[in-house]
Amino acid sequence: MGLSRIANSAPMEERPLEREGVDRAFTGRLVREFYRRVRQDDRLGPIFAREITGDWEPHLEKMTDFWCSVILKTRSYQGRPVPAHIKLEGVTESDFDIWLSIFAGTAKDLCDPDAAKVFVERAERIAQSLKLAMFFRLPAATSGPVPA
Ligand code: HEM
Repeated sequence: MGLSRIANSAPMEERPLEREGVDRAFTGRLVREFYRRVRQDDRLGPIFAREITGDWEPHLEKMTDFWCSVILKTRSYQGRPVPAHIKLEGVTESDFDIWLSIFAGTAKDLCDPDAAKVFVERAERIAQSLKLAMFFRLPAATSGPVPA
């Protein structure tokens, strides 16, 4: 294949994961078990308790839609994760390590290893972009006259 072929091709679109047993019902169980563990965590539990004060069900349904969109490409989630996280106070980069390790543990316990790998890789990628949005700021322009 020539270079021009590579240059002209559109970015490869991710295909839905097709694996027996990985459907919306399974994704809902994974999401519920993940947040059950998150809520028990000493560090993340209080953050979520502060933010989700009422019924958890809408959050769990939203997160099931989100994961179905990410893994099964259902387009069921239409929200915007970045603003939802930017507004959170007191969340640090190392909290994402905790989040990811609980997520990986849950996926490992609930799915077969290949499917768990797909969930975890996507979670890591999204966590990376959320962290960039939350914690990476370009240094402020130095004060003083704008160079001609
Ligand atoms: C330490 C890390 C994280 C914390 C503390 C955190 C916390 C939260 C909180 C408090 C909400 C708002 C819940 C609500 O009001 O409905 C939320 C929403 C959400 N989170 Fe996270 N989150 C973290 C990491 C992640 C990661 C890594 C992902 C994806 C892989 C993710 C995906 C989402 C999505 C999709 C929403 C729904 C946003 C919306 O449409 O409203 N979060 N998160």
